[in-house]
Amino acid sequence: MAPDLRVYPDAAGAARAAAADFADAFRSAAQARGVFRVLLSGGRTPKALYFLLAGREFSDLPWERGEFFWGDERYLPPAHPDNNYRAANDLLLTRVAVPGDSVYAVPTASGDPARDAARYEQTLRRVFDGEAFPRFDYALMGVGADGHTASLFPGGEAVKERKRWVVPAYAPDKITRSRITLTVPVFNAARRVVFMLCGEDKLAIAERLIKEPPAKDIPASLIRPADGELVYFLDRAASPAA
Ligand code: 6PG
Repeated sequence: MAPDLRVYPDAAGAARAAAADFADAFRSAAQARGVFRVLLSGGRTPKALYFLLAGREFSDLPWERGEFFWGDERYLPPAHPDNNYRAANDLLLTRVAVPGDSVYAVPTASGDPARDAARYEQTLRRVFDGEAFPRFDYALMGVGADGHTASLFPGGEAVKERKRWVVPAYAPDKITRSRITLTVPVFNAARRVVFMLCGEDKLAIAERLIKEPPAKDIPASLIRPADGELVYFLDRAASPAA
């Protein structure tokens, strides 16, 4: 299935389009099932999206029907500036009418990433009771220049996991080396997976990722929802030549 590729003149345009896409999916899920369960992403790229979603244009979304989770987390305290929960909470979740018990942060306090990963999996299993894999309505994802997505890094053990929903992982960089990540089958169970790639530093990886068949040695190319939609929002700087 060729990916649904959407290119915009700049990162701001890609963020505006992604915000509209997010809102459409939110309304559809809330109407169809009474709830919108979304996996938020970390990193720099989604911050513009979070800022837009917190604005007046989207204040009429049924925020009280949203349930917010993370596709991965850096193993840092929630107050740490590099913590993914903190970024989305500061930019979006504290600025819209989301009930506190609808925000499911990845625990990072026990000192043992494996234990906290198992705890997050238990939380997900309570929410998605009885499902083989959790079917999120929306998975927002980014891609690193090395082809990682969430905290699924090239050559890492987490990329190979096909049974567990949540596992510890390790990033090459020092500050946020220890991670917790959801696994490939979880992302592939989602109804809609949306990647955002912006900036010329993502062009090389985008060329390898967005082709058929995609390069097999990059974790982001493993994310192909089995019964769901896959969409890429890019700015022109990250977009392979047409
Ligand atoms: C994280 C993200 C990670 C991110 C990519 C791209 O915890 O950092 O989950 O997978 O999406 O590293 O990050 P940028 O948007 O900052 O380029």
